[in-house]
Amino acid sequence: MAESAPSLTEAFAALGTRRGRQDPYPLYEAIRAHGDLARRGPGRLVVTGYDACARALRDTRLHVQDRTAYDAAHPAWRSHSSLRAFTSSMLYSNGPDHTRLRSLAAFAFTPPRVRDLAAVVEGMADRLLDRMARLGAGGDPVDVIAEFASRLPVAVIGAVLGFPEEDQVWFRETASAIAVATDGFSDPAALHRADAAMDALARYFAALVEQRRRRPAGDLLTTLTAVHDGDPERLSHEELMGNLMVLLTAGFETTSFLIGHGLMIALGHPPYAHRLRDDADFADAYVEEVLRYEPPVHVTSRFAAHDTDLLGTAVPRGTRLTLILAAANRDPRRFTAPDRFDPARGGAPQPLSFGAGPHYCLGAPLARLEARIALPRLLRRFPRLAAAATPVHRDRWVVRGLDTYPLALGA
Ligand code: HEM
Repeated sequence: MAESAPSLTEAFAALGTRRGRQDPYPLYEAIRAHGDLARRGPGRLVVTGYDACARALRDTRLHVQDRTAYDAAHPAWRSHSSLRAFTSSMLYSNGPDHTRLRSLAAFAFTPPRVRDLAAVVEGMADRLLDRMARLGAGGDPVDVIAEFASRLPVAVIGAVLGFPEEDQVWFRETASAIAVATDGFSDPAALHRADAAMDALARYFAALVEQRRRRPAGDLLTTLTAVHDGDPERLSHEELMGNLMVLLTAGFETTSFLIGHGLMIALGHPPYAHRLRDDADFADAYVEEVLRYEPPVHVTSRFAAHDTDLLGTAVPRGTRLTLILAAANRDPRRFTAPDRFDPARGGAPQPLSFGAGPHYCLGAPLARLEARIALPRLLRRFPRLAAAATPVHRDRWVVRGLDTYPLALGA
């Protein structure tokens, strides 16, 4: 980063580099210095202020990228199966289509339904910890991201949807390849790999759907299949595939990154690790602060489908907005000493880590439950856990977290 205050262009150029992405927070402050809503060229706004981001997420005149928006921005997108699948899902729909698609799956993620999953999540976490113990028994470091943090969310969402456990490693790899499609058109080779992975996943989903037709089970896959079969207008085949894909992919890297950062902070500050082991209320507050301080999703976007305004700034139809959620979570006007990690901070507003408004994360209760169970159990199981090497951050901006974190189990 330059010593003098960088321009917006310089700050964004730095976010495009590996070094900038390793620690983007100073760059967010450089962007914030240009205003809560900064103009980044004609028709483009960058939003870093908490209030402005929260308003933008709730303003129904501001839409998520849907098929119409893709048509205008990337005319070739329809030739990519990964993008076709994403755009058939709730995450890339607006208005009544969005309400319809979201309501079909929402019943499975309500707080009471999710609370009922606690025992399942605990059992899965314990099995993964047993496996970690075996892997580290000879004293070799174990990568907690590969062996625990990324496995638990796939196992959990697999159970909710009704996917066979033995296929979960394959899912993880396939879903990782597809996730790059959400980063847009920046890497054509990666987008082609995403398409191939999506085609394989679509064949796999289609076979499972067929199985549920013959043998219904009490899972979300059975419910969605029955909705589609009962009335394809309510849920088309493409929408069924798109939603299965988003439900599978939206939660696994994000939750893995939440657990990874939660662990990294605890191991860097032993009193936190100590309290996490046996104070459930502290675990809840701790997870909330990890979400604020190191949100897995740093940025999202909207475009103005109609004229609107945000806190007095006119936002004409067609404007594209970049909403930096991670910057909003450190807005000094809303969070005292925002760069300090403080699980005891009271009275602060709800961080925007799960978004807000109509697209508020459907899996938020599930992600919280997983992290609240995973962190204490991991620290109790291996009381002498210690970093065996420096953790490595994924070199991506939008969804940010640890790729590897080798640990000595000290067992
Ligand atoms: C710590 C973990 C997670 C984080 C940080 C996270 C973050 C987010 C954010 C920021 C959004 C809103 C995007 C926007 O408005 O543009 C979102 C939407 C969504 N998330 Fe999550 N998520 C997490 C875990 C999960 C899990 C476990 C699931 C599993 C079901 C999930 C499913 C979804 C879905 C389906 C949407 C789209 C909702 C809609 O469009 O109505 N997420 N998530």
